[in-house]
Amino acid sequence: MRVLILGGDGYLGWPTAMHLSARGHEVAVADNYLRRNLCQELQLEFLHDVPDLTKRADLWQSISGHKIAVHVGDLNDWDFVAEVFQKSSPQAIIHYAEQPAAPYSMLDRQAATLTLSNNLMVTANVIFAVREYCPDAHIVKLGTMGEYGTPNIDIEEGWLEVAHKGRQQKFLYPRQASSLYHTTKIMDTDLLWFYVRTWGLRVTDLMQGPVYGMFTDESSQDDRLLPFFNYDEIFGTVLNRFVVQAVAGYPLTVYGKGGQTRGYLNIKDTLNCVRLAVENPADPGELRIFNQFTETFSVNDLAEKVREAGKQVQLNVQIEHIENPRTEAEEHYYNPVHTGLLDLGLTPHYLSEEVLLDMIEFVMRHKSSIQTDQMLRNVKWN
Ligand SMILES: NC(=O)c1ccc[n+]([C@@H]2O[C@H](COP(=O)([O-])OP(=O)(O)OC[C@H]3O[C@@H](n4cnc5c(N)ncnc54)[C@H](O)[C@@H]3O)[C@@H](O)[C@H]2O)c1
Repeated sequence: MRVLILGGDGYLGWPTAMHLSARGHEVAVADNYLRRNLCQELQLEFLHDVPDLTKRADLWQSISGHKIAVHVGDLNDWDFVAEVFQKSSPQAIIHYAEQPAAPYSMLDRQAATLTLSNNLMVTANVIFAVREYCPDAHIVKLGTMGEYGTPNIDIEEGWLEVAHKGRQQKFLYPRQASSLYHTTKIMDTDLLWFYVRTWGLRVTDLMQGPVYGMFTDESSQDDRLLPFFNYDEIFGTVLNRFVVQAVAGYPLTVYGKGGQTRGYLNIKDTLNCVRLAVENPADPGELRIFNQFTETFSVNDLAEKVREAGKQVQLNVQIEHIENPRTEAEEHYYNPVHTGLLDLGLTPHYLSEEVLLDMIEFVMRHKSSIQTDQMLRNVKWN
């Protein structure tokens, strides 16, 4: 298939590009380096150096023989979007290209409005580009489990059958996000659903949980192919941060009581989920929603797992409960359904001690570049 990956320089975008190209798909990527630029502005360093997209695509071609077409530009810019869609003529579009961090979206007014306008405008441009240039193409959009929040009832896979005064209808499952970033994801879903109903687009919206890890079959062939790895409080996801904190001898920073429970997945499973969605497209006029995670853990569970794994390599890992900068429930019911991707054939990679030790070993090799002043950046919800 011809697949266009928007946000192809990102933590998930680049590994996805290699994964699909290794499996015979014709892949093009587009990115404007927004993530790298925001990190630079906030003086947040990646754990290790990551070559730009063009260099990585050249390296991947020399190793694998597969070509990935690279387009550098802003997907808010319609001329750029039109050019990329016309050149790549995609059958599937994987839309990762958003500002993806809850803490960044809560930083200040400028960060909030950038998140709102970037995320919604890119999604709107994708919708209009599909309508204009490839109306039968399948949009695979990355949403987040955070769209649902933490309701006191089971979380279904995207939809809820509601019975009201003797009548019934299926609606999008009620959403109540706990950050502005997550709210933009809800708005994306609403935009997509509107145009699915109106124009008959085919869309899969993947409600993904926080991802951990960096090793995939493709990136393991050369360290320069690894995705970038943030361990700071703004862009780093929780397990990645804990592993770096453990190696740096910095106490694991658990927010509040640590009972916050979410669905997590290994980066390898992200790639498989997205590939399964691409290879089994939604029907025209269908908004298909999958909950994309493999296991649920509380923050306390994750901290304990990192502490236990650390013991194997003589790390004396401390855990510290700090004041919670977020407005969120610290103890709550959490029971989300996640059968759709398993039914499509996903074989999960669970969070074993071996997985944690691989991550710890990698981070230890880069220990000298860890900057502990990145661990907390004082972004508060209130
Ligand atoms: N990483 C996770 O744990 C996680 C969990 C749930 C959902 N998601 C979602 O998955 C997607 C990918 O996440 P990620 O962790 O790879 O984030 P990322 O920031 O590493 O990747 C997003 C990429 O999109 C690019 N981008 C953003 N706006 C753009 C624009 N206007 N034009 C061109 N390129 C643009 C960025 O430069 C970046 O390279 C995001 O939509 C994110 O919200 C991620």
